[in-house]
Formats: sequence, C-alpha cells, structure tokens
Amino acid sequence: MSENLLVIDGQEVMFEPGQTILEAAEKVGIDIPTLCHLKGTTPTGACRICMVEVEGARTLMAACTVPAAKGMVVQTESATVVRSRKTTIELMLASGRHDDCLVCPASGDCRLQELAYRYKVKSARFPETFTEYPMETVNPLIVRNFAKCILCGRCVQACRDVQVNDAIDFGYRGATTKIVAKGDMALKDSDCVFCGQCIQACPVGALVPKDAWKKPRVCETEQIRTTCPYCGVGCQQILHVKNKKIVQISAAENAEPNQGRLCVKGRFGYDFIHSDERLKTPLIKKDGVFHEATWDEALDLVASKFTQIIKDHGPDAVAGVSCARSINEDSYQMQKLFRGVFKTNNIDHCART
Ligand code: SF4
Ligand code: SF4
Ligand code: SF4
Ligand code: FES
Repeated sequence: MSENLLVIDGQEVMFEPGQTILEAAEKVGIDIPTLCHLKGTTPTGACRICMVEVEGARTLMAACTVPAAKGMVVQTESATVVRSRKTTIELMLASGRHDDCLVCPASGDCRLQELAYRYKVKSARFPETFTEYPMETVNPLIVRNFAKCILCGRCVQACRDVQVNDAIDFGYRGATTKIVAKGDMALKDSDCVFCGQCIQACPVGALVPKDAWKKPRVCETEQIRTTCPYCGVGCQQILHVKNKKIVQISAAENAEPNQGRLCVKGRFGYDFIHSDERLKTPLIKKDGVFHEATWDEALDLVASKFTQIIKDHGPDAVAGVSCARSINEDSYQMQKLFRGVFKTNNIDHCART
C-alpha cells in the first residue's frame, strides 16, 4: 500500500498528512455523523457520535480527532459502531428535555433529531440525568434553552475561536454542567456582543433567535444567498425566507470575505425591511412639515439648492459624505459628482475609520 492510503468501508482513500479519519472520509463522500465538530476549530472529541471501528484498535475511535494513518482499515457503520451511536443518542436525549420535539423551533433543522431518525432511536432508554435550568429569555436577541443543550461545546468554540469574543464557557460539573457566560450571568450582562455565531453553531434548539416562536421554523424556509447591506465588507448571507418574508439570517459557510461569520447587524438587523415606519418616498419640508414628494421634485430641489450655494459661496461651501450602506459604485459616483461636477474635494465616506 502506498504512503498515504487507508481503507474506509472497503474503499481505498488517499489522505494528506495531518488529516483526520473524518476529513479523509469526507473527501470521498463517506458521511460520518458529527455533533461537536466545528470546522476550522480544534476538535474536542466531546460528543462521541463520530466513533468508528479501526482494525486492531482496542476501542472505537473518534474520527474527528484521530489522524488518518497509512494502512488503517476503518469501518464507519459496523454493528458495533451503530450500537455505540444509538447509545450516545439515547444518552443525549436523556440529558435534556426533548419530549416536546414537535413544538421545538429547531425541529426539522436539528442534528440530534436527524441522527435519532437515522439510527432509529425512538426514545431515551436511560433515566433523565440533567439539572433543569430555566430558559434565559431576558436577552434582546437570543433565547438560551438549557434543557435542550447537549453540551457539545460548539457555541463556546464559535464564540472563542471563530468570533474571538470569548464570552461563554463550560461551567459547573457532572450533571450540573451548563454553558455559562462569565460568572453565570445572562448574556445581556456579559461580554456577549450578540453576534449570534453561537446560534449558527448550535446543532439543536438550545440557542435560538428571540423571535423564533413567532415565525415559521427554519426547515420550512427557502434559502437565498445574498450580500449584507450594512457595510462595505460585503459579508455573504443566507436569507431563510418564507412567504416573501425573512425568517432568519445565517452566514454563508466557505464564502469570502466572512467565512461563515456575521456581526449583530448582519444577523439580526432586518426588521426595517417590513417596517411600517420605513420611508418609501422622498419627503420635502414645507413650513416645518414634511410632505411626500416625487423623486423628480426632490432631485430638482436638491440640485437647485446646491447650484445656489456654489454660486453664492463657491464649491468648497458644500461637502458630501457617502453612506456605507450604499454600494461601492454609488460611493464612486458620489466622489465623481463632488470632484468632477461641483469642483470640490470635500468628499468623504462614513466607514473611513
Ligand atoms: S433540540 Fe432537537 S431533538 Fe431536542 S426537541 Fe428540539 S428538535 Fe427535538
Ligand atoms: S452571541 Fe456572539 S458574543 Fe454572544 S455568546 Fe454568542 S457567539 Fe459569543
Ligand atoms: S448551547 Fe448548543 S452549541 Fe452550545 S453546548 Fe449546548 S447544544 Fe452545543
Ligand atoms: S464529532 Fe467527533 S467527538 Fe463529536
């Protein structure tokens, strides 16, 4: 057998030095289930759902942490592996409150539910083992439902390693273990910046947007890729849309420039789209009161005012600041208008800092 070759489910697979069994399997489309594994971060081996059988090994091995090695012979769905996965799923179901699955906002988009279906686990065989912490609903944008938490740690990694905010961690021990914001505070009183990366990382319904219960579930939505309208970075978003309304926004994975990240504005700041207070026509103030106007009326007024100011006081009496929420091309045209037409260099952009 040549240098970097192993056998997975009877198939010879080439691997790069340093790749794990999971990464080698992924390359050839062999689906080893994962729960705690968060791409781009150091594997923790916390959930044990990715266990595989390696010929000659005394125990099952976690595919997400064990490096692929020359000559390895791996079984990813042997009877022993399947038995182990079923037990792991049963223990997870017993470690939280999942008996209300039908009304959970994550239903249909939940990795635990998906795996319970895949491995035909009907219910938890084991006695409940968890401490029932109350749901945290005081935060402006995020609900923490500790009873659904499987302690996979993906939220901690998303916060610490992906967003570099380090606002949450594991707290307490054994059956009382809980994901805590520093000092076990509500997120709103912690270092949390409400980027929502932990929601995106959570494989179950333990972290959900605050308005999740008022909206359709994510599994009912159509996914539309777009660019965030808030600033010039151009983050790639996935809009989850139902009946022409955005239900939730997540970051597009493996896409530049944000590589699966979003900030608080990009993830949660979309209420304005359907707001009754949204301006839809230009307004012109007459006698101290705004009146709706046509675009022609508004543009004629602005043009006449600029012309008059420049005539009376010279071009440097006007200045322009273009908006970070407009596209690059609009900002380019804005500086052309000020430099080329008005003949002033008084032009700036609000995101220059
Ligand atoms: S977290 Fe998943 S398994 Fe648990 S109730 Fe919600 S959908 Fe069901
Ligand atoms: S919202 Fe962002 S900062 Fe707050 S806990 Fe989640 S990942 Fe960390
Ligand atoms: S809140 Fe979600 S991501 Fe965090 S440990 Fe619990 S299940 Fe995992
Ligand atoms: S995915 Fe490998 S241990 Fe969790």
